[in-house]
Amino acid sequence: MAIIDGSAIARAFLLPVEEKVRALKKPPRLVVLRVGEDPASVAYVNKKKTTAQALGIESVVEVFDVSISQKAFLQRIKALNADANVHGILVQTPLPLGWDAYALFNAVHPLKDVDGFHAENIGLLAQGRPRLVACTPAGILELLCHSNIQTHGKHVVIVGRSVIVGRPLALLLAADHRQGNATLTICHSQTQNLFDFTRQADILISAIGKPRFFGAEAVKPGVVVIDVGINRIQVEPGRTRLVGDVDYDAVAPLAAYITPVPGGVGPMTVAQLMANTLLAYRLQI
Ligand code: GUN
Repeated sequence: MAIIDGSAIARAFLLPVEEKVRALKKPPRLVVLRVGEDPASVAYVNKKKTTAQALGIESVVEVFDVSISQKAFLQRIKALNADANVHGILVQTPLPLGWDAYALFNAVHPLKDVDGFHAENIGLLAQGRPRLVACTPAGILELLCHSNIQTHGKHVVIVGRSVIVGRPLALLLAADHRQGNATLTICHSQTQNLFDFTRQADILISAIGKPRFFGAEAVKPGVVVIDVGINRIQVEPGRTRLVGDVDYDAVAPLAAYITPVPGGVGPMTVAQLMANTLLAYRLQI
């Protein structure tokens, strides 16, 4: 069994990104919009900001109270679209209940859409002409590529169909390129006999947000496990820890490769956001 060390892979991935950022006359500027105080979002956004700053990317976090209207928030996005000094805009999810996330994703200028959630960017990806690609799926491809894990002809089972992970990831892995050409199964909350599918996976990618949901009985020996889940569980009163969707201790002995949580997909997602910010800058200059 080999551990896919996302932190180390992200560090290596960011070296040339930093070099290119430092060579620019003017640094790229990333604006992250966060609504409310969801603890996980606070932590993710802080990580994005500190990583950006370490590379020389200017990073601004704008925090809004949950009482802000969607309309007023939309106006802020439009102002940032019009600001030539802003190169990347990210609307952190989850958003307040009842908001139309797609209306907001589509309001971000498509060339500033560092999340890759805009309909135009997803459309380009669906056409096989990726431009700005969602960070977690792009990061997962980098983890596989860096670990020399072939996807060509392999059966990849993705559990989760969100616009953030499952859907763009399926488009990437099915496309005709070095880190694609896989045979895909997409499972989701309505899938019956889920483990019948996951047991067939050469590569199992889970993004369902259920702590330690997949145990030894859910995989076949030799599987490659990419665990996107980041779930906080209580281990004893007053003490919590982060675990993935996969029961690491049970599955790791069976797996050929596995990503740990934390330290797997998370760091590479943030690294990909930095690469997207640089790409967005170049698309606009
Ligand atoms: N919430 C969890 N992951 C993400 C992400 O990659 N982008 C945004 N905008 N929100 C998220």
